[in-house]
Amino acid sequence: MNEILAIFSKNKRSNLAEFSENAFQKLREKLTEMTNEISDTFYRVIVAPITQGHYPINKFDEHTTGLKGCYISRYFNSIYRQRKISTTKATSLKYLEIHLVDHCNLNCKGCGHFSPLSKPNFITTEEFKNDLLQLKQNIIYITQLRLMGGEPFLHPKLRTLLKIARKIYPSDKIAIVTNGILLLKQKKKVLKTIKKLHVEIHITTYPVFEQQTDKYIELLKRFNITYEIEHTNTFYKHINLTKKQDPCTAISKCRKQNYCPALKHGILFQCSGLANMHILVDYFTLETNQLPLGLDIYDGSIDAEKILHFLDSPDPLCSHCFYAAESFNWDRSKNNLNEWVL
Ligand SMILES: C[S@@+](CC[C@H](N)C(=O)[O-])C[C@H]1O[C@@H](n2cnc3c(N)ncnc32)[C@H](O)[C@@H]1O
Ligand code: SF4
Ligand code: SF4
Repeated sequence: MNEILAIFSKNKRSNLAEFSENAFQKLREKLTEMTNEISDTFYRVIVAPITQGHYPINKFDEHTTGLKGCYISRYFNSIYRQRKISTTKATSLKYLEIHLVDHCNLNCKGCGHFSPLSKPNFITTEEFKNDLLQLKQNIIYITQLRLMGGEPFLHPKLRTLLKIARKIYPSDKIAIVTNGILLLKQKKKVLKTIKKLHVEIHITTYPVFEQQTDKYIELLKRFNITYEIEHTNTFYKHINLTKKQDPCTAISKCRKQNYCPALKHGILFQCSGLANMHILVDYFTLETNQLPLGLDIYDGSIDAEKILHFLDSPDPLCSHCFYAAESFNWDRSKNNLNEWVL
């Protein structure tokens, strides 16, 4: 059973490690008092700063929880009251990727999201909002929502998209995943919005821009933005169009290393590779049976459990995926099919 409770630290973002087992136990007891019908529920705890619109509720303040500096968000309370949280229904997804932009300003050889093969394509603010609102009907929390592409800083309405995401998922970790190239050119108002909405920046640096890393760090520290940096010089390819394996074996192998469900045009996919497969299929005019099935979030018959089950089940195309079967040094793409296909 997975129920989520957002707790907001009074001061800075706290670390889960600050909470002892004892504190969790105490918290659980308090929650049980409040919601005795869900006494067996396991609560996953999100720790985040109090932001505008998230005020501590009196009933569960620092004093009653016994957790110093922590409050239970009124947001939780209102969700609970609306009965959006139930005892048996899973309501959270631990990870989700959304493309803000399909194309890219770097074009890495074998890019797993097929960006070098994409025409310029930006998500509209309407589609982004509608899809997140629709997803929220079933998925109340996303532990980590990573906004990427392609290169997300190419999107002309990035600030609006971030505001939408933060409004719909107020307490979840939201990160922009970027190659960093456009970071130093960002206007102050963009960086301030990123900070204000407590959005993180996850930079992947590639050999060509490695020497910029110190400048990125200096900028992000100056704006007090939380960041992660991953240095990458090895890429992988997975797809074998002729050879097949058991799709369950395939997905269990990739899931051991990576859990990267993705949402695109209102459809959920088990991974970003599948979500963006249409770019590869279009560019090389492959057979359309090389397209994944996906799960339509606008289908009225789905619920969170169906979503989670779907994301753990293989797509038929997983049978052609031999995860990380071949590695190669990072390079720029020449848009040859063999950059992606074994
Ligand atoms: C597709 S990129 C999108 C965001 C941004 N453009 C970037 O490069 O960080 C997301 C992540 O996927 C990784 N990635 C893409 N293709 C890959 C591949 N073939 N093998 C390994 N990692 C890959 C990138 O290095 C990056 O960390
Ligand atoms: S991996 Fe490279 S080509 Fe792909 S989106 Fe990121 S920077 Fe662009
Ligand atoms: S195609 Fe299937 S097996 Fe391959 S990475 Fe995606 S989910 Fe995993």
